Amino acid sequence: MASPKLDINTSYKLLSGYSIPALGFGVYQTPASTTSACVTHALRTGYRHIDSARVYRNEQPCADAIRTTSLPPVPPKAMGYDATKNSIASSLSQTGLEYIDLYLVHAPYGGKEARRGTWRALVEAKERGEVRSLGVSNYGVHHLEELEGFIRELERERGGKKGSGGEISVGQWELHPWLTRPDIVGWCKSRGVVVEAYCPLVRNQRAGDEKLRALAKKHGKSTAQVLIRWSLQMGWVPLPKSENEGRITENAGVYNFELSEEEMEDLKTDRYEPCSWDPTTSHE
Ligand SMILES: NC(=O)c1ccc[n+]([C@@H]2O[C@H](COP(=O)([O-])OP(=O)(O)OC[C@H]3O[C@@H](n4cnc5c(N)ncnc54)[C@H](OP(=O)(O)O)[C@@H]3O)[C@@H](O)[C@H]2O)c1
Repeated sequence: MASPKLDINTSYKLLSGYSIPALGFGVYQTPASTTSACVTHALRTGYRHIDSARVYRNEQPCADAIRTTSLPPVPPKAMGYDATKNSIASSLSQTGLEYIDLYLVHAPYGGKEARRGTWRALVEAKERGEVRSLGVSNYGVHHLEELEGFIRELERERGGKKGSGGEISVGQWELHPWLTRPDIVGWCKSRGVVVEAYCPLVRNQRAGDEKLRALAKKHGKSTAQVLIRWSLQMGWVPLPKSENEGRITENAGVYNFELSEEEMEDLKTDRYEPCSWDPTTSHE
């Protein structure tokens, strides 16, 4: 379990050598017209990590508001070497950013050859300084192991130089007490891959859960704050999304209470109940 000494500036060191703020801000389904205002409010509140994507169509207003930290993944339908190269070029030109802190592959769709090409394009973009750290989202353990094979292949091709095949700095999955993915999280932990949790609020669908409500009452916090704190104490990087200023502030107010080990365990379930899509199980 993570150190209890968490604060809004807590960050984790990545295998790439860069670091990542432990609390992120999600913008899935945030309309482009209001994204800049939401991100500006999030930055004023203390968030220093924004999770956008090509397919969310709000990278540009995110960048307008931040210009320093962004995280747009390779769109799920743009897999393969050329498509990924074009994606990165579009992200850079649309946002006007000189480089992107972290670029994730959104999902493992498209087949083995497309995944291999995508990774090569990402490694080359990193070498050109367009991207600082690399990662994947929604990969199952079988996709992660295949990716380790691609990394070794690239290293061999480049004379065996360690690191020349790229490294998986970050992985992003749907994670919360009703979906803890011990296989994937264990895989990442054993390799030092930082784990990001999307849908950390389970899209507010569990706000009526009795255990969660009791914990919120006990600590004088909202159910959303308990879920974000739980995710942080799991050692993950939660990415709560909100379009509402009050809730953006509320979701960052998670550093003046702590869940005990017993409470952490008690909230955790062994269920497998995604509230979003689940490409980890894909075998294409
Ligand atoms: N890689 C992937 O495939 C993937 C998939 C899904 C999501 N993501 C990322 O993860 C982020 C978070 O996931 P998500 O947006 O799907 O779900 P989420 O963060 O679990 O939940 C967001 C929902 O909860 C509401 N909410 C936010 N704060 C609240 C609070 N304090 N009390 C009550 N309700 C609250 C929001 O409404 P309001 O906006 O009205 O506050 C919104 O409807 C996304 O924005 C995106 O950046 C990635």
